[in-house]
Amino acid sequence: MKTKLTHPVFAVISDCADEMNVKAFVIGGWVRDLLLGRPSKDIDIVAIGSGIELAERVAKKLGDNYHVNTYKNFGTAQIVYEDYDIEFVGARKESYRSESRKPVVEDGTLEDDQNRRDFTINALAISLNASNYGELLDPFNGRKDMESKIIRTPLDPDITYSDDPLRMMRAIRFATQLDYTIEPASLASITKNNERIKIISKERITDEINKIILSKKPSIGFKLLFDTGLLHYIFPEMVALHGVEIRNGKSHKDNFYHTLEVLDNICITTDDLWLRWAAILHDIAKPPTKRFEPNHGWTFHGHEDKGARMVPKIFADLKLPLNDKMKFVQKLVLLHLRPIVLAKSEVTDSAVRRLLFEAGDDIDDLMKLCEADITSKNEYKVQKYLKNFELVRQKLKDIEEKDRVRNWQPPISGEDIMKAFDIPAGREVGILKNAIREAILDGIIKNDYEEAFGFLLKEAEKLGLKVRS
Ligand code: CTP
Repeated sequence: MKTKLTHPVFAVISDCADEMNVKAFVIGGWVRDLLLGRPSKDIDIVAIGSGIELAERVAKKLGDNYHVNTYKNFGTAQIVYEDYDIEFVGARKESYRSESRKPVVEDGTLEDDQNRRDFTINALAISLNASNYGELLDPFNGRKDMESKIIRTPLDPDITYSDDPLRMMRAIRFATQLDYTIEPASLASITKNNERIKIISKERITDEINKIILSKKPSIGFKLLFDTGLLHYIFPEMVALHGVEIRNGKSHKDNFYHTLEVLDNICITTDDLWLRWAAILHDIAKPPTKRFEPNHGWTFHGHEDKGARMVPKIFADLKLPLNDKMKFVQKLVLLHLRPIVLAKSEVTDSAVRRLLFEAGDDIDDLMKLCEADITSKNEYKVQKYLKNFELVRQKLKDIEEKDRVRNWQPPISGEDIMKAFDIPAGREVGILKNAIREAILDGIIKNDYEEAFGFLLKEAEKLGLKVRS
């Protein structure tokens, strides 16, 4: 390991620890990521003694520009060095009270500290003292678990998970990010203890959900969340998508697994968390809109509309931001069927113009979502739809070049209308503005001031309005 500790800050910590006659180790996520070849900027140092005193000495040695942020209540200290975030803590032995996450903390040995960590792959430590600089201390065979791609707890899983139930989410998150298997005893323990997730704050749970969503193949995590029963507590609307009903010999697809396929598909074309959220939520209102129509089979009329209306509550429950990101997700859920309708029918200019107007700058993301939504097992159908989408894309490009309706404002504003007819803001202004917009989108008049004004005069006359002389 010696050759891997090349960062100059390790030499400084090493000198300071030896001067203080204290043992010091780099531990946890940084060591795991080093062995996995994923460079990380978060370094955790554990001292067998005072972490704060070690940090103060290290900062002094680094020079005048460095200072220590201390968190006395937690016994931790932090130094920001270049773009590295280095945390110092004294080794701990912790015992938890069962109904609280707040542990009773005592000083401990390195082994005590490793024992209280979540997974064997996160319990690895490398010594920084000169006498055994670079020695890997791996009491639970974390390296072997890395080779076999296994998530395992250092202690009995029931103890590790009930010490901090967030670890149930972390297990699933690491399994998803790293494509590891959670060993059976651990999986059984998560399933048994799933209800304890209730004591964890929504924010921390959602952090883990977002990390799952940002993985290469998020379906791995969502299937585990479902199978262990955690999803029932943290995101019940998604659980409702699960299952197939059969009536008169007719069934519908399982919308839970369909949603996961769409999510995995969209991860190939985007890293954007919110577009990935749109994939998760695009069919979220299928359960509450599901009907069986004897002549038709299963229908989900209006699920795009109801889905868009469900988004704010879901975002609020999960403590996701209630800002323009939420509006973006809502818009995509609302519009997600529109390109499919276009692809299935004769594509008219006015339908394309309308879609461009409504989607604005989000049109490319909407097209990505719709392409990801094609999950038929029938390869012929998939190819046919994708080809139709190519046509829709071409048409979108042509119309945008011609009419520029993406992010478009109609040529006559409400103000213009009020001035022209000397009327106050009100219903009539709205009616006239709408009429102009619709006429342009339908291609009845061109997108220019002259034509729009002529059209406005005719429409105003119908309402008995005259131009101000
Ligand atoms: N840890 C733990 N139990 C938790 C959280 C963290 O035992 N609920 C320990 C693990 O040893 C972990 C270390 O604290 O490696 C640092 O935790 P953190 O920085 O939250 O996560 P990382 O493991 O570094 O992973 P990531 O940065 O991907 O979140």
